[in-house]
Amino acid sequence: MRLENGLALLTKGYAWMPDLRRARGLRAAGTLLGGLPAVGIEGPEAARFLYDEDHVHRSHAIPEPVQGTLFGKGAVHTLDGEAHRVRKAMFVSVLMDPAAIEALVRRACADWDTAARDWETRPEVVLFDESAQVIAGAVTRWAGVPLAQDEVPALARDLLAMVDGFATGGPRHWRARRARGRREEWLARIVGQVRAGEDVAPPGSVLQVVAGHRDADGGLLDPRVAAVELLNVIRPTTAVAWFMAFSGHALARWPEHRSRLAGTDAVFAEAWAHEVRRFYPFAPFIGGRAPQRLEFEGRTIPRNSMVLLDIYGQNHDPDLWEDPYAFRPERFLGREIGEFDLVPQGGGDPRTNHRCPGEQITVALLAALAPQLARMPFEIPADQDLSISLRRIPARPASGVVLRPTRR
Ligand code: HEM
Repeated sequence: MRLENGLALLTKGYAWMPDLRRARGLRAAGTLLGGLPAVGIEGPEAARFLYDEDHVHRSHAIPEPVQGTLFGKGAVHTLDGEAHRVRKAMFVSVLMDPAAIEALVRRACADWDTAARDWETRPEVVLFDESAQVIAGAVTRWAGVPLAQDEVPALARDLLAMVDGFATGGPRHWRARRARGRREEWLARIVGQVRAGEDVAPPGSVLQVVAGHRDADGGLLDPRVAAVELLNVIRPTTAVAWFMAFSGHALARWPEHRSRLAGTDAVFAEAWAHEVRRFYPFAPFIGGRAPQRLEFEGRTIPRNSMVLLDIYGQNHDPDLWEDPYAFRPERFLGREIGEFDLVPQGGGDPRTNHRCPGEQITVALLAALAPQLARMPFEIPADQDLSISLRRIPARPASGVVLRPTRR
């Protein structure tokens, strides 16, 4: 297996791993990432392979710059075995409960309606920024964290910054670190107040569950780690703003979908959510460290290599998706989605492995808010830069998608 310079990641972005594999005509390709041997794999069998706990460990696998910005130190993402199972159960109990998901979606839709009335009075708004504010306010309050309305814009900016800065070494990265520091301090203080009885967390709320959670060792979470995990709920939920901006992009590029999305067809709205998550680039890859020498499809993966599942590549694999570079929500109508084929948020069983526990929330929010977006009286003016650079991780439409109200 030839190794090459993983710095290509920084210049090629999402195309790095697919290009590497295409150049070799393989489903697995080796390279160097941050000086360590890494192997990129793709396809349902690759996903199944990655989620076998004997194949990939997460501890000591996630680079410090990613922990210091995106996930936080001590996060569930970095745990293995029993420690992971116990911490994961905490997330599953609050994030995968249908009644809780419905309550969050109802709140976000109501907040969207309120905000949309204000957007109509302005000459134009940026969909990415406005969606982030609506979702950040809704999810933070739903989680039981007290938040005044005038605190929402700064919070949304910080949550977006943590996601925006994880894959770069420049100013975006330092903004992400500062945002994380500020918000961990804020939430650790709130957890301390709840534990001391100075503040009351709403019963059953994420705040109450995280503040009272006991880890595998029987102890409460360190307040800073509790803050990290609260952020691991409100930050990625706010990141649904990326998919809202991509939805705006899709409506601009393929306006023929707008009337159907604006209607009452809930099945189509869900298909839209899946196609947006499949088609557009967001999380580039997932993975961890090989605890032993492994074999995948006849290839040797040396011990301690990074094993990475190429999410963008798999979501555009022609063996899985007919005409993969066409945006076609209809492809999901009547399609049974396999555990390991659509992987924008990981694969397998989120209750036991590392798959995203917020996937149902993501789909439910998108399937509710994208139709609200399609119904609003606005146009997407042509004089803006809607290009999406695959070299920028995370990618986004350059303009953030400017909307101009049509009913003035
Ligand atoms: C894990 C993507 C939304 C909470 C993950 C993983 C991915 C992902 C790729 C890693 C899977 C793995 O390592 O195997 C996304 C995307 C989202 C999103 C693209 C859309 C914005 C959410 C939401 C929540 C959430 C809404 C919470 C409400 C988490 C947590 C983990 C995780 C806690 C760690 C799970 C573990 O390590 O066991 N997500 N996610 N995510 N996500 Fe999400």
